[in-house]
Amino acid sequence: MKKTSALAVVAISSAITFVAYGAEPCNIAEGQRLFQEQQCAGCHTYVPKDYEKSGPNLHKLFGRKAGTAIFPVGYTAALKQSGITWNAEMLEKWLTNPAALVPGTAMPFAGLPDAAARKNLICFLQQKTK
Ligand code: HEC
Repeated sequence: MKKTSALAVVAISSAITFVAYGAEPCNIAEGQRLFQEQQCAGCHTYVPKDYEKSGPNLHKLFGRKAGTAIFPVGYTAALKQSGITWNAEMLEKWLTNPAALVPGTAMPFAGLPDAAARKNLICFLQQKTK
């Protein structure tokens, strides 16, 4: 039993990768956990050419204009006309409160109040959506 838990600790700590966006380091493994826990994964994928989800595919998200990917369900006019280009700064606002950034958006997500959590989630997205 003791051996198993020691192994688990090693496995977890080696899975944690610290990278940086902006000035401070962030934790991608934690971001990945949040992508599941906050239900992002239920509505979004970043696997190229997978359009089966109820939210837009996030592949190549960074640098993309909001509401311009292939999304068969259809974007709201509000998001398409938002003028947003996705980067860490805009995602920070979006994940704090989507409806405050884009009134009329159809993304049913109340927001993630914890700044450190948002940062880790954005880092994870930056890596995975490349
Ligand atoms: C219940 C489904 C659902 C959940 C949960 C959800 N989203 Fe969304 N998301 C959507 C929909 C639908 C849209 C399109 C909104 C529109 O057109 O107004 C969207 C839009 C987006 C966009 C803009 C995409 C683009 O192409 O412009 C990003 C980025 C995004 N979501 C990230 C996330 C993240 C990260 C999470 C988890 C914290 C999350 N979403 C949770 C359904 C969801």
